[in-house]
Amino acid sequence: MYRTHTCGELRTKHIEQEVKLSGWVQTIRDKGFMIWIDLRDRYGVTQLIFSEDQSSSALMEAARGLGREFVIQVEGRVIERSSKNDKIPTGDIEIVVKQLHVLNRSETPPFTIESDTDGGDELRMKYRYLDIRRKPVQQNLIFRSRLAIESRKYLSDQGFIEVETPFLIKSTPEGARDFVVPSRMNPNEFYALPQSPQTFKQLLMVSGLDKYFQIVKCFRDEDLRADRQPEFTQIDCEMSFVHQDDILDTFEGLTKHVFRELLGVELEDFPRMAYDDALRLYGSDKPDLRFGMQFYELNDLAKGRGFGVFDQAELVVGLCVKGAAAKYSNKDLKKLTEWVQRPQIGAKGLVHVRWTEEGIKSSVAKFFDESQLTAWYEAMGGTVGDMLLLLSGEREKTQKQLGALRLEMGEKEQLIRDGDFKPLWVVDFPLLEWDEDLERFHAMHHPFTSPKKSDISRMLRGDHDTMKQLKADAYDLVINGAEIGGGSIRIHDRALQEKNFKLLGFSDAEAEEQFGFLMGAFEYGAPPHGGIAFGFDRLCAVMNGQSSIRDFIAFPKNNMGRDIMIDAPAPIDGAQLQELYLDVIEKKSDTTDI
Ligand code: AMO
Repeated sequence: MYRTHTCGELRTKHIEQEVKLSGWVQTIRDKGFMIWIDLRDRYGVTQLIFSEDQSSSALMEAARGLGREFVIQVEGRVIERSSKNDKIPTGDIEIVVKQLHVLNRSETPPFTIESDTDGGDELRMKYRYLDIRRKPVQQNLIFRSRLAIESRKYLSDQGFIEVETPFLIKSTPEGARDFVVPSRMNPNEFYALPQSPQTFKQLLMVSGLDKYFQIVKCFRDEDLRADRQPEFTQIDCEMSFVHQDDILDTFEGLTKHVFRELLGVELEDFPRMAYDDALRLYGSDKPDLRFGMQFYELNDLAKGRGFGVFDQAELVVGLCVKGAAAKYSNKDLKKLTEWVQRPQIGAKGLVHVRWTEEGIKSSVAKFFDESQLTAWYEAMGGTVGDMLLLLSGEREKTQKQLGALRLEMGEKEQLIRDGDFKPLWVVDFPLLEWDEDLERFHAMHHPFTSPKKSDISRMLRGDHDTMKQLKADAYDLVINGAEIGGGSIRIHDRALQEKNFKLLGFSDAEAEEQFGFLMGAFEYGAPPHGGIAFGFDRLCAVMNGQSSIRDFIAFPKNNMGRDIMIDAPAPIDGAQLQELYLDVIEKKSDTTDI
């Protein structure tokens, strides 16, 4: 038997018991006549003590031979500590060691394996197995496991069945590039790894499974950010004979369930906000509702007063920062102006108005007198002490720029409380998105999304401008400004699906070649259906108040999509390339070498 207890288990009730523990040496403090060792495992840390009074000199010697991260087994007696440590659950006791066995030695680890480590990101990724020994990372993985189990419990109780769908498939367009896999048995042909199980889950509805779910890996070759990994996990679901409300209710229920079970948080009913309103009021299709600072359109009050920038703009829009007028100096505002002018935001300039006891100061004093500026304050619900920030330009771009500024101001003003959760459903997304550069439509969600019932006849008959106005039965779950999930009611009729592909620029032959299997299935009694997928990694991160998903994935990739621990991706040898009919690639890289 390696152990009678774990390193997180012993309390004062165990005093005088003889115990065996196994674990890793976290720290060693050697005072000569006494040696203390912190022994760690997944469950906690227990203090061991070796003393000249009670231990043989051979045992003292053996303890001195230990190093950090050695794996040891000890036998000894639990005693009460003279100086207690109330920071850890085992802090009232320690073990007087009588026997010590070294189960395995360890090199000196490249960084300290404690909650606060000195290891940088890259180093910790290279030695991820050591990083995972650290408590915060272990806790994240334990949280993830519990979240998966609770999600399964809830969905299973609701009658969902978990079905696995294949990983070697043909590409499904979800807006990113596919990772492809060559086929040895089918020369010059490739599988694609699924960006999501979208088409398969729809086929399972045609099969009559009624309620499907899967906690499933998805693969997308896209630019990486803190909330994106090339392989990530979805809680993927599909339901038959449902309307949008049925899906929203079911998955609001799932969200409430996991918040209750894992965090003890009771979420209130989620508000529902139309996509157009989200943009109009918050400049984002994923508004962070942990603070207010809604937008106000000022076209009526700000245009036609001789200020060219506003006069030429499609939209003049602003927000009011409460109590900020005296806090921001001219220098601060210059910095803020430069911030909105960065290419990532792209605003041309920033208009600011500060109303303090000394009067109203603004960057547009030449064009607007005090009474006009006071009228802005009135319209925006502001008063003395508050600061107004305004942007102008083309409608949607300006809204998004102000959306970014709103988040920045929310952070600067520290308006976000730790542990606050503000979920909402964003609904009524447009069906199609016009791409100015490529002069073509993209599906806003994906090509299988149904237009709203009331828009179907307009879609079948309409002209180009009508297409831009079509709304879909598509929805996103947003929590604290992060897109946690997205889904839609699907098209289940061949003619409508064909029309949608046509609008998206597919020829009949292309649509048939790529999606003939799905449209064919629609001819055999496809039920009305719809679904949703939650980003599982994102849900983990948001529930823990974090924005990066990396720490919730056991073995994540870095920003270049590399696993630096196993050093992947990596070249493969010539024979393997040849077998896969990819030797052309090898020849090419040979040439580059020369
Ligand atoms: P969508 O593409 O919106 O929908 O994806 C669903 C959710 O998955 C998460 N997500 C990601 N998480 C981490 N890294 C990524 N690269 C990444 N990409 C997406 C997001 C997102 O909301 N088949 C549809 C769902 C449906 O219609 O039912 C789909 O995949 O949280």
